[in-house]
This record gives sequence, structure tokens and C-alpha cells, in this order.
Amino acid sequence: MNVKQAIFERRAYRSLEPVEITKQLIYDLAECTQLSASCFNNQPWRYVFVYNSEVLKDMHKVLSSGNEWARDASMIIVVFSKKDDDCVIHDGEYYLFDTGMATGCIILRATELGLVAHPIAGYSPKKTREILDMPDDHNVITLVIVSKHSEKISPILSDKQVEAENKRPARIPLDKFVYINKYKGK
Ligand SMILES: Cc1cc2nc3c(=O)[nH]c(=O)nc-3n(C[C@H](O)[C@H](O)[C@H](O)COP(=O)(O)O)c2cc1C
Repeated sequence: MNVKQAIFERRAYRSLEPVEITKQLIYDLAECTQLSASCFNNQPWRYVFVYNSEVLKDMHKVLSSGNEWARDASMIIVVFSKKDDDCVIHDGEYYLFDTGMATGCIILRATELGLVAHPIAGYSPKKTREILDMPDDHNVITLVIVSKHSEKISPILSDKQVEAENKRPARIPLDKFVYINKYKGK
């Protein structure tokens, strides 16, 4: 699969079935973030790969309502970083950008490996820090839910979520976010 295929293949599916998680898979995914670009090569991204069944069960408590589907996942990647670990230039706090770029690499590599890697914002960062014994200045930016896609639609999904399983949610057209040579230029 080339990069463009992985980009087109990636979906935030919510109907999941288990997949075997190995240390080899974890280090494969981690390696793909390691080479990501970062401001001053600061590499602010940090990850906890949770796949132990007891810790996973604890992590289920952090999920917001509507994200119960994530309980079927075989792994949850806790993505975190610290503002102080990367450049702050003018208004730009680059730890978020750099960690996002690195996490994008994980998501595309997981896609290439035939996995679902679905980032979510619906969870409690505070409870996540408590479970993982993480200091308060560690910003839990997202959880990436990793598993295999199930063709069988999960019965706990809402109608809207079922619709998104069958058809990729619509995107704004290119001419709404691409500007050529100047803002609002044609
Ligand atoms: C930062 C971020 C937060 C998200 N939070 C959630 C979430 O809490 N629950 C959920 O089901 N999907 C979540 N999603 C997935 C999006 O809803 C999904 O990417 C979007 O609807 C487009 O669908 P697609 O990725 O399959 O093309 C999130 C995605 C991102 C990037």
C-alpha cells in the first residue's frame, strides 16, 4: 500500500473485532512516529500503548458516553505531551502540532497493516492520568483506538454512527479550504 492508498483507506470505524497485539506491532508503530518532523527536532510526542486486559478495563472508565464502542478494541494508545517539551513561538504551541503529525504516522501505518486506528476526543484526560499514574502537566491529547474492523455493525452504535460505518462522512469541498497564491485568491 502506498501513502496515498493508506490515506484513502483510513477510516474511523467503530465496529471492531479483536486483533492480537504484540510487542513487535507496538514497536513497529512507534518506529513510524520516531522519524516524524518536529520543531527543533524536539520530538515531544509520548505514548502509552495499553493492551493488558486489566488496564484496558480500567481505561474503559474514561470513555465518554457515545464512545462505548471503543470497549471492543484490543489496544488503546494514550497520546500525550507537554507544552514545555517543544517550541512556543509567537502564538504557536508546537507540541500539539508535532504530536499530531507523529500520531498521523501511527494511524497510517496501522491502516497499512489492515487495522483500525481511530483517534477520539471523547474521554476524560484527568481519569486517564489517574489510571496511568501520570503527572498533571502531561497533556493527554487523544486516545487512538486500535483493533480490527468488523464487517458486522456493532449493535451499540447510534443511527448516525451506523451511517458513518457504511459511508465516509462528507468532506467540505476543496474550494472551501484551498487558496491559491493569496487568501481568497482564485
Ligand atoms: C481529534 C479527533 C477527535 C475525535 N473524537 C471522536 C470521538 O470522541 N468519538 C468518535 O466516535 N469519533 C471521534 N473522531 C472520529 C471522527 O468523528 C471521524 O474521523 C470523522 O467523522 C470522519 O470520519 P472518517 O475518519 O471515517 O473519514 C475523532 C477524530 C479526531 C481527529
